[in-house]
Formats: sequence, structure tokens, C-alpha cells
Amino acid sequence: MNWRGVLIGCGFFARNHMQAWAGLQEASIVAVCDIDPAKAQAFADEFGATAYVDAARMLEEVKPDFTDIATTVATHRSLVELAARHSRAVICQKPFAETLADGHAMVAACEAAAIPLIIHENFRWQAPFRALKSQLDAGAIGDPHFLRLSFRHAFDIYANQPYLARVQDLALTDVGLHLFDLAVFLHGGVERVSCETQSLNPKVSGQDAFAALLRHRSGAVTSVECSFYSHLTPDPFPQTLARIEGTSGTLELLEGCVLRLHRGGEVSETDVDPAVPAWGERPWHLVQDSVTAFQSHVVDVLAGRDNPQPSGAHNLGTLAIMLAAIESARTGSALAPEHSAKGAP
Ligand SMILES: NC(=O)c1ccc[n+]([C@@H]2O[C@H](COP(=O)([O-])OP(=O)(O)OC[C@H]3O[C@@H](n4cnc5c(N)ncnc54)[C@H](O)[C@@H]3O)[C@@H](O)[C@H]2O)c1
Repeated sequence: MNWRGVLIGCGFFARNHMQAWAGLQEASIVAVCDIDPAKAQAFADEFGATAYVDAARMLEEVKPDFTDIATTVATHRSLVELAARHSRAVICQKPFAETLADGHAMVAACEAAAIPLIIHENFRWQAPFRALKSQLDAGAIGDPHFLRLSFRHAFDIYANQPYLARVQDLALTDVGLHLFDLAVFLHGGVERVSCETQSLNPKVSGQDAFAALLRHRSGAVTSVECSFYSHLTPDPFPQTLARIEGTSGTLELLEGCVLRLHRGGEVSETDVDPAVPAWGERPWHLVQDSVTAFQSHVVDVLAGRDNPQPSGAHNLGTLAIMLAAIESARTGSALAPEHSAKGAP
């Protein structure tokens, strides 16, 4: 089977989507769309697809098996609702939605069409976190009770994505969501959130750092730290460092993609650095490999071999954690994430 897909939004990150789709046997992007005709045409020429400037027209003409939405968040709701009327599966980049109301509407649109809505949350698909999760599931450290996630760097993210310098709550909305998804992936649903934010880089208008504390329903606790203004040599971007402690051991994800296991008084290390894709480059290979892993998963969903990880309904829970973190930082109080979606953590 070769699933026929279309891509909406031919910007910075979509290049990774296109390269990864081109490497998969079971799916092809047959048409691309951008409101900027030059961007759509450039992708169409490079990847052998048809260019459109109007998503509605593309979807009506192509009637794809799946629609991959890689625009920024303000357009996600209208494009997901549109794609739900014309394709058999919808993929939406993170942040999934700006508000819970938008997120609920997008989930409802796909449920009404009886099609999967899959959120492009690629951090949980990064090779180091897949390795850590499989050790956890195999009982390597017993029952987990504490997780620390740390994403701190000073890589110039504004060079490729200049709009980020004007985003309010930048660290929480750009990478915080990914980190909260990881926390839920590893520890399950969250009942309480507290958060502090900081504005560090004088050239950036939003808050570019935060520290959050999550209390999970299991009783486990997660500490999440993120900063886009941490000066380190070498710069660890784009790696997320982690430590998860359990009843019989500890797993650490260390710089250079090393997974260290402490158990029974012994320590062992595994190299979990993914290969650099033929089309990729360091330090982006960690992210690029995760896009391929995520899209392979999408093919499994299309073929009925797996359920979306995460689905839109599940990601509503992550969105609720992020919104609670923003509110906690504003009010100085600990808050319960508010959501009521079926499937949300
Ligand atoms: N998962 C990750 O690791 C990761 C990394 C970077 C960015 N992202 C996400 O990817 C998304 C895109 O980010 P980016 O930095 O590539 O943005 P970008 O601005 O470079 O690209 C977005 C593109 O969408 C186009 N567009 C906007 N509205 C459109 C519409 N209605 N129809 C067709 N095209 C439209 C724009 O013209 C632009 O070319 C964001 O949601 C961002 O958060 C995810």
C-alpha cells in the first residue's frame, strides 16, 4: 500500500516532514500547499509534488488518504476542520491548539468524520526516549516516582524561526508542550502544576525560560526545566536530558545521547544516539530521526496496526497542563489542569 498524502505549510520545519516522507516506502506526498506560492513551488519541484496556494482546492482535487499540517498554531483549527472533511487521517503539528476550546473543536471534527487525528509530538519519538521507555516498561528501575527533564541551551533558534522572538510564553508553548508530553508519556496523567517563568534574552519579547513542577495521579513527581538562554559549551541543543528514579534503580539520559542505568549497585551505559539521516545533519539528526520514527508510526495508524501516539484527544491533556503552567506562572498558585476529553491523560 502507498498512502497518498498532502502537506499544508511549506516552511522551516516542513522540510524535515518532506524529507522523512520521501524516505518511507508506504507513503508519498503528492501535493503541497502554502499561501506563499514560491514556497509551495519550491517544495513541489524538489519533492515531485503538485503545488497549491489554496488548501481547500488542493483537498477537493486530491482527496488524499492523509493531510499533514505543518503551519503555525493560529491556522491549526481551521485547517484541521477543513482536512477532516476531505481526508482519511489528519496530522497536526504542535502546539496542537491555542485554546482548549479550539482543541476540543478539532477533536470533535475528526471524531465526527470517524478519522484519526494524530499530533506531531516528536519528542516522545526521539531515539533516547524510546530506549528509556522500553527499559522502564521492562521493569529496569521498578516503579518510577521521580522524573527530571531539562532542555537548556542558547542555540540561535530565532535564525530559522524569527517569529519565535515575538511569541508570549515562548518556552512553554514551543518546547514546554513537548516536555509535558514526555512527562505524561513516562509518568501518566497530571493532577497539579506549578510553574515559574523568566524573560532572559533581551532580544526576545516573551518568556524564554521556565521551571515547572508536576504532581502525577500515580503520586510521581516531575520537575521540568527549559531555557533558551543557557550558555554552555558544547551547547547541548536539541537534546533533552533526563533522570527517572524508581523503586529499584535510576535511568539517566546524559549529554551525547548516553543512557545510563543504575541498578543493584552497578552502572551500565548504552549509546542511544540515532544515525544521522542521509538528508540530515548534526545537531538536528536527533529531531530528524524522530520525525521519521513519528511518520512510520503514522503509516502504522493508517494501516490499522497502531493507535495514534498521541491522538488529538490525548494531546488535549498536555495542552491543559501547558495552559495551567502559564496560569500558575501568572498567579503564583498551583493549579489542576482542566480538561474533560475522552482519551486525555
Ligand atoms: N515538532 C518539532 O520539533 C517542531 C520544530 C519546529 C517547529 N515546529 C512546529 O511546526 C509548525 C511550523 O513551524 P515553522 O517554524 O516551520 O513555521 P514557518 O513559519 O517557517 O512555516 C509555516 C508555513 O505555513 C504557511 N502557511 C500559513 N498559513 C497557511 C495556510 N492557511 N495555508 C497554507 N500555508 C500556510 C506559511 O506561509 C509558512 O510557509 C509550528 O506549529 C511549530 O511549532 C515543530
